Amino acid sequence: MSSLAVLHASQVVTLSGPKRPRIGAEMSELAIISDGGMLIHNGKIEKIGPSAEIEKNVGDAEVVDVGGRVVMPGFVDAHTHLVFAGNRLDDFERRSRGETYEQIAKAGGGIWSTVQKTRAASELDLLTQAKKHANWFLSCGTTTVEAKSGYGLTVDGELKLLRVMRRLKEEVRLEIVPTFLGAHAVPRELSPDEYLDVVITEMLPRVTAEKLAEFCDVFCERGYFNIDQSRRILSAAKKVGLSLRGHVDQLTNSGGAKLMAETGATTADHLEQTDEQGIAALKKANVQPVLLPGSVYALGSSRYPCAREMIEAGLAIVLATDFNPGSSPTPSMPMILSLACTQMKMSPTEAITASTLNAAYSLNRGDKIGSFERDKLANFVIFDCEDYRELAYWFGIPQTHSVYVRGDCVWNTSCGK
Ligand code: NIG
Ligand code: FE
Repeated sequence: MSSLAVLHASQVVTLSGPKRPRIGAEMSELAIISDGGMLIHNGKIEKIGPSAEIEKNVGDAEVVDVGGRVVMPGFVDAHTHLVFAGNRLDDFERRSRGETYEQIAKAGGGIWSTVQKTRAASELDLLTQAKKHANWFLSCGTTTVEAKSGYGLTVDGELKLLRVMRRLKEEVRLEIVPTFLGAHAVPRELSPDEYLDVVITEMLPRVTAEKLAEFCDVFCERGYFNIDQSRRILSAAKKVGLSLRGHVDQLTNSGGAKLMAETGATTADHLEQTDEQGIAALKKANVQPVLLPGSVYALGSSRYPCAREMIEAGLAIVLATDFNPGSSPTPSMPMILSLACTQMKMSPTEAITASTLNAAYSLNRGDKIGSFERDKLANFVIFDCEDYRELAYWFGIPQTHSVYVRGDCVWNTSCGK
């Protein structure tokens, strides 16, 4: 198979180092090689080093001279709602007039309105729209996304979304990690207890029998699923072998972080309202926080999660987009880096670690992606800048030059493919 030599990057941001999620001061160590390069063979990284050294080993490899640009591992977006139908332009306009997420949901907008559109859409329609979303992610420099179901809310509807993800995986080069989020909202036709029963006794067995998901998630929030109901779903999911994630403490502090610690979850996501005790519980149970500043921004709130306190407590923070039609309509990880630095006072280095290597560990893929180490997948991005900090600094403009997955160029500015 083919070999590729990447040469003359102003910076190769390797993030090489300890083989585990990074905490505290480690989040600021990017292990950058100036005028660096890489040798790639059969889609995997063979060698990383100064260009001069790589050049000596080029052999018959195809050479990509990146001309003084930045080369980084592709972003790993560990929280997205990739597959849905339509948009929520009406919610957006109402929010711009001052209505809240909760008020809009009560008035017939919110998750339920996307559920109705998604139920009505065919598998092919959903696949076509999801392909468009997948291309947006690649164009922003993201090479792996976690993707949640949650807009079907019937057995067939949820399975339909997970099957679309499976097909999408085969048809696009973006790598996709599926999560079952049957407990995203209670459908109008059932009571909360009736629906809980469907999720646990009908959906979970089907999802696992067909191997359609790696993780199970729940929206633990007032008006959605309370602590007790969330605990029941997460415990059932754990029993059938799924790893756990959760939407917790987003709009109210209901003790969701503590629940994720208690259930041995991999991640606790959102955490805008989480207090010191919640942070301590996450640390004790080794749960990774997934912070989603895009949803805080798009909901017009100013209550961002306490990233600094979490870093000081030694948590292996992850940053993600929460791409969805309601609360966070962005696939752009560079936008998230900008928000993390300006609104949550994370440094650009911490933000990069949180959106690559730490994110990879939160998807149980820390041994394969998220940093440049020998034998890891050659999923990388060439950015049209000289210093990695420019990604968080210039906001609102695309800086992606080209994107590689397993050594193949899957997107670039000239082909836009
Ligand atoms: O992560 N909080 C729940 N779920 C999404 C919103 C989904 C939607 O509004 O459609 C979130 O913010
Ligand atoms: Fe979400």
